[in-house]
Amino acid sequence: MSLGPLARRLCGPYEHRISEAYRAIYVDLDKFVARIRAAQPGARRILEIGCGEGAVTERLASAFPQAEITAIDITPRVGRLYRGPTANVSFRRATVQDLAREHPGFFDLVVLADVLHHAPASLHGELLSSARAALADGGLFVFKDWERDVSPIHAMCYASDRWLTGDRIRYLSATEMRDKLDSVFGAKAIETVAHLAPWKNNIAFMVRR
Ligand SMILES: C[S@@+](CC[C@H](N)C(=O)[O-])C[C@H]1O[C@@H](n2cnc3c(N)ncnc32)[C@H](O)[C@@H]1O
Repeated sequence: MSLGPLARRLCGPYEHRISEAYRAIYVDLDKFVARIRAAQPGARRILEIGCGEGAVTERLASAFPQAEITAIDITPRVGRLYRGPTANVSFRRATVQDLAREHPGFFDLVVLADVLHHAPASLHGELLSSARAALADGGLFVFKDWERDVSPIHAMCYASDRWLTGDRIRYLSATEMRDKLDSVFGAKAIETVAHLAPWKNNIAFMVRR
C-alpha cells in the first residue's frame, strides 16, 4: 500500500513547497547539483533517468542553462512538480533502455539519483548498462543513492520511502554500489566518491565513460 496519493491530496497547493522541505530532511539537492556542475561544467546534452516529479531536474536546469535536458521516468507523474524553465527541458515517460536505443552515445552527462533502491536487483545491471550506452565517450555518469546502515535516520528514510511510494525498497551498501559500477563501466571508471550533506548515507559516484 502507498500513502503517496493521500499525502499529495492533503498538501494541495503547497505540495511543491512541502515536498522540497521533506526532501531537504534527507539530502541537500542544491549541493548535489553544484558538485555535478563542478565535475562536468560544459555539459550540453543531459539525461536524467528516474527524474520523478522533477526536483533534481529543476536544479539541473538552473545549473546548466545552455544544456538540453531530457528527463525520463516510468511513473505517469513524470515532471509533475517541475517549476523551472521549459524551453530546453523535456519530460518523457520512457525507460532508459528506450533512450539508449534511440540515442546511443548521445549524452555528455547522465544522472541517476535515488532510483536504484526502487528498482528490483534483477534490473540493476540493465539500467546501468543502458545508462552507459546512452553516454558519449568521455561523458560523465553521476550515480547517487542512499547507503544502507544501522542508524535512526536510515530507519526513518526506509520507512518513509517504503510507505510513501509503496515500492519494495532495497538499499545497497557502498561496496555493492561500487561493484555494480565497476562491472558495467570498468574498474578504473570511478573518478570520485562523495558523501553529501546532511547525512553520510547520501553517496555519489562520478563515473567517466
Ligand atoms: C525517490 S524517486 C527519485 C526521483 C528523482 N531522481 C529525485 O532524486 O528527485 C525514485 C524514482 O525512480 C523511479 N524509477 C523506479 N524504477 C525505475 C526504472 N526502472 N526506470 C526509471 N525510473 C525508475 C520511480 O518512478 C521514482 O520516480
